[in-house]
Amino acid sequence: GGGTSAGSSEGPKPADQLVVGFSQVGSESGWRTANTTDIQAAFKDAGIELKFSDAQQKQENQIKAIRSYIQQGVDVIAFSPVVETGWDAVLNEAKAANIPVVLTDRAVDSADDSLYESFLGSDFVEEGKKAGEWVLEEYKDSTEPVKIIQLEGTTGAAPAIDRAEGFADAIKGDDKFEVVASQTGDFTRAGGKQVTEALLKSNPDANLIYAHNDDMALGAIEAIEAAGLKPGVDIKIVSVDAVKDGMQALADGKINFIVECSPLLGKQLVDIVNQINEGETPEKRIITEETTFTKDQAAEALPTRQY
Ligand code: AHR
Repeated sequence: GGGTSAGSSEGPKPADQLVVGFSQVGSESGWRTANTTDIQAAFKDAGIELKFSDAQQKQENQIKAIRSYIQQGVDVIAFSPVVETGWDAVLNEAKAANIPVVLTDRAVDSADDSLYESFLGSDFVEEGKKAGEWVLEEYKDSTEPVKIIQLEGTTGAAPAIDRAEGFADAIKGDDKFEVVASQTGDFTRAGGKQVTEALLKSNPDANLIYAHNDDMALGAIEAIEAAGLKPGVDIKIVSVDAVKDGMQALADGKINFIVECSPLLGKQLVDIVNQINEGETPEKRIITEETTFTKDQAAEALPTRQY
């Protein structure tokens, strides 16, 4: 702190004098918990102080946290924006205070990309596309309509917007695929359960659920079982994340396919902070490497899965 920002004319600061302020989305999912743990551990290992705040999925809380980091004169601000829009004012305040901002996990839709140094995270459109491509392959021999329920992530969040887009794009070529209902479950298990309960009543002939994350898929499993049906058999499920509980459900045959979204962003975030401190320019966009999992691949990966 002390009013001098990292990488200024005074040169780099030693690690133990750097202060980073991080504003997290919340603790809505297993993914988010793993992400928080990984980021906190990486800064601890690097000997860099991390101020952490949990916004409980509310943009106003994130804006407050960022303003407080500006006031405290931290060296770098990092945050995972709960929704895409509405950040320009606070990001301009950070810029005016000469405090570099790094986006982790989720994007903002600002036209002015000088408002942040770097954006580290997944390609969510690609994730949605991979889910859609699996659906195409799974039903390639079917001549019947395929009725799909989509469980959306938080309304306005980059992963909800992009995963819907990538999926829709993948299945649009064949009109046997029909998204019969699409509603937000806010990336939570409870949300996924509640929405599935309601949507199964209005769409008892649904064949497949596409959940924007594993937690909502796990909630959907509970709702499907409560309705006396077999998840993974009577109603197939494809989801995104590949957290342990999701992978277990996949290995058990209750989820049919998972697209990975890695929460392990801590080390790369530390690297970006170090680059900024050294006066270097980090890459503007760093895309996380990810894979996909079938039932057998999940069973194989589970024993060594970290999160
Ligand atoms: O932004 C990443 C998404 O947020 C994860 O896929 C989801 O589980 C989390 O809540």
